[in-house]
Amino acid sequence: MNRSTFLSILFTLSLIFISHAHLAASTINFKLYQDVCIEYGVRVNPNNIRVCLTALESDPRIPQAKTYAELSSLIIEQAMKNSTISQHYLKNLMKTDPSPAIKECANQDYDGIIKAFKNALDNVIPNPQTAINYLRRDLGYAEGKCSDAIKNDPKSYFEVNVLINNLDFYTAIAELSLNHLIDK
Ligand SMILES: *[C@@H]1O[C@H](CO)[C@@H](O)[C@H](O)[C@H]1NC(C)=O
Repeated sequence: MNRSTFLSILFTLSLIFISHAHLAASTINFKLYQDVCIEYGVRVNPNNIRVCLTALESDPRIPQAKTYAELSSLIIEQAMKNSTISQHYLKNLMKTDPSPAIKECANQDYDGIIKAFKNALDNVIPNPQTAINYLRRDLGYAEGKCSDAIKNDPKSYFEVNVLINNLDFYTAIAELSLNHLIDK
């Protein structure tokens, strides 16, 4: 077998592995957070698996999480901290650039986003489906308003779009983790 054939088989195997991530995860016994990051990679792009692992490993409690309830709570806590820092950034930006879009994001939208994470956190144990609903409905609404305001502003706010992408990341993995708590 020549080198390129070998590489092509390896590539195909990796695709099969990725498309059977659920099976692989139960067979190989990944840690829970690794399982969630693989699912995220399957959904978005396999290249995002590493980014996801690195982000979650920044909280040393996450690799130790033994239940999906614990993992979901820790992910949402990390998301809340991350969004709080984003809101500080926006409030600072507002001092030099008080455009309607920045004001909107920095105040009611990020207030709504952080509140939705808090409500989701409070519901992880009693009702994971309600937690997901807070992320989809309340957080989705506030994020959509900020994102539309930024899009409609003639200035291009690259950094704000990065913050919004971080939110997309956290809501996606929080939901993937919460899904494990829901009987299907
Ligand atoms: C917020 O989260 C993103 C995605 O995990 C990360 O890249 C970024 O560094 C975080 N920001 C802070 C201030 O921790």
